[in-house]
Amino acid sequence: MTTATTTAAATAADPLALHDVDHVRFYVGNAKQAAYFYAHTFGFRVDQIADLTTGSRDEADYLLTQGNIRLLLTTPLTKDHPAADEIRRFGDGVKDIALTVEDAVAAYEQAIKNGAEPWGEPREISDDRGTVVVASIKTYGRAVHTFVSRTGHYALDNVKKGGAEFMPVFKKFESPVNDYNAKNPCGLMYVDHCVGNVEEGKMNHWVQWYEDVMGFKMFKHFDDKDISTEYSALMSKVMASGNHLIKMPINEPAEGKKKSQIQEYLEWHDMTPGVQHLALRTDDELKSVAALRSRGVDFLNLPDSYYDIVWERVNSTLIQHGHDPVKEDHTRIKDLGILVDADDEGYLLQLFTKPLQDRPTLFFEIISRHGSQSFGKGNFKALFEALELEQERRGNL
Ligand code: FE2
Repeated sequence: MTTATTTAAATAADPLALHDVDHVRFYVGNAKQAAYFYAHTFGFRVDQIADLTTGSRDEADYLLTQGNIRLLLTTPLTKDHPAADEIRRFGDGVKDIALTVEDAVAAYEQAIKNGAEPWGEPREISDDRGTVVVASIKTYGRAVHTFVSRTGHYALDNVKKGGAEFMPVFKKFESPVNDYNAKNPCGLMYVDHCVGNVEEGKMNHWVQWYEDVMGFKMFKHFDDKDISTEYSALMSKVMASGNHLIKMPINEPAEGKKKSQIQEYLEWHDMTPGVQHLALRTDDELKSVAALRSRGVDFLNLPDSYYDIVWERVNSTLIQHGHDPVKEDHTRIKDLGILVDADDEGYLLQLFTKPLQDRPTLFFEIISRHGSQSFGKGNFKALFEALELEQERRGNL
């Protein structure tokens, strides 16, 4: 059997089998300026644009790339564009976690059959070089999943190699910042996970939705005893696609003495669920965080006391499970303010940015994994305390 017939057979068996995260689309107030923010601070290449100059009359799109991460920044050019109202309600943020599949129409039809609500009917965008088919369903709150299938010039492999346009109407973009970033890489490779905040009492609904509609499975489970401080708490369950290509933790606020960060997010997001953070994976946490800090990325600050106890907690867990202790220089980890956590499979290094826009909504996480497949549960307490300090500064506690 050839690869093509193998893939066709797999699709017939499961039209929702995911090939990749195609892109993550943000709705932003000014894509031209936001592109330079993400390029300068996070080292993204401003790879391609679609705007009035390329024949796009209703929106401007900037495709930012780094490793296998593709962020698509979209700004409406007309008041009637659906993004215009969303920006008014939510500010800048993530709209779409788009997923590459073999056949976007088949994936969409299967998802609808499984109970999904449509957001965008199948649409074919093509020219003489190839075709991109997109079809979108709603997920929690304002977020959607677009299924994308690509042929010819626009096949994802061609886009990844940097030789192809993202879609018809896109054009390659040249900028000195791209040359600078090529010489000074930040090492971000792909989206490790994408976390959604949903309303209180709705987490299990969306867990079930990812099982029923997308065929995802539960990956890990925390309860509010794990993830709480004296004041605020959350509940979180992690859903993963069949091939573990994408993990989608879902948070809901839990009862606490003070306002939880999930509640704060919802209040600044028109009480509407949405994406809370994207975790971007690196192989070298120290190098990436040092590069990002030097570019001005604003990370959450942890109290120095965090490092008084972290090594005992983490290294004893590792040794207990037959692993070597954390190999990176402990002093440098502290100097860079990186968080560490361990479980029975190994350890991870992670660090969270402050909000990426003026509202306390979306942020990024920079993560590297050394065996551990979890999400830094042991850091949640320290993290929440740090977050609460920030919330207090914003007058939102
Ligand atoms: Fe995370």
